[in-house]
This record gives sequence, structure tokens and C-alpha cells, in this order.
Amino acid sequence: MKVSRISMSLPSELLSSFDDSLKRFGYEDRSKALQMAIRSFIGEHEWTREEEGEGSGAVVLIYDPEVRRLESVLTELQHHYPDVVKSVMHVHLDKHDCLQVIAVKGRSKGIKQFAQEIAKQRGVKQLKLAYLKST
Ligand code: NI
Repeated sequence: MKVSRISMSLPSELLSSFDDSLKRFGYEDRSKALQMAIRSFIGEHEWTREEEGEGSGAVVLIYDPEVRRLESVLTELQHHYPDVVKSVMHVHLDKHDCLQVIAVKGRSKGIKQFAQEIAKQRGVKQLKLAYLKST
């Protein structure tokens, strides 16, 4: 197996929580755990290869409400995808975290674009897409 070395920067807090979760799970090797995390990321995004067809599900995200303009950008994006966005639930977790659950339904391509647009906004800390294919 050919191995590539990468160097990356990430917030110190994120690295220490990552290390904590390795320890809890019994992993000793950070590289091995990162490989598993990357594989699970790839698995979760496998559906994005799909361009045709329809589906439904939910985009679940946590974002920082104090990041300037983020809330209005999120609302604008929802208005730009009326064929995809069906319902939105908002939960204030604490001062720095809001949870949003956006129910989506429609063409896979549109759902994918919508989730990508949201994921790339600064202040969006986590995003998961539960995508359920309807046949
Ligand atoms: Ni909130």
C-alpha cells in the first residue's frame, strides 16, 4: 500500500477532543483513527455521486449564531431552494450553538447542492445529511 503524508491545521480544541475520543475507544494510533474517520466521511457522502433520482431526508447542522450574517445567509439559502426545503426546526442549544433540522425532499441533485452551500458557510460547525432514497 502506497502511503501519502499530509500536514493539516485544525483548532487545538478539536484535536484534543479527537484524542479524547480515541482514548475512550481504545485506539492508540492517531493516524489509524484518522483513516477510519476519513473512511466514514467518504461512506456518508457516497450518495453525493448520485445525480439523478429523488429522495428525502434531513440536513442537520450546528452553527454559531454569533457569526456575522450567518443566520441571514442560512435563511436566504432556504429561500433559494423552495423545491427542496420543506420544513425547518431551530433549537437554541446555548450561546454559541444553534441546532437546525431542515427537512428536505426533491431531486437528489438539488438536495446535494443545498447541503453543500450550507456546509461551506463560515460558522457552520457540523453538518449531517440523513438521505433517504424513495423509489
Ligand atoms: Ni438559536
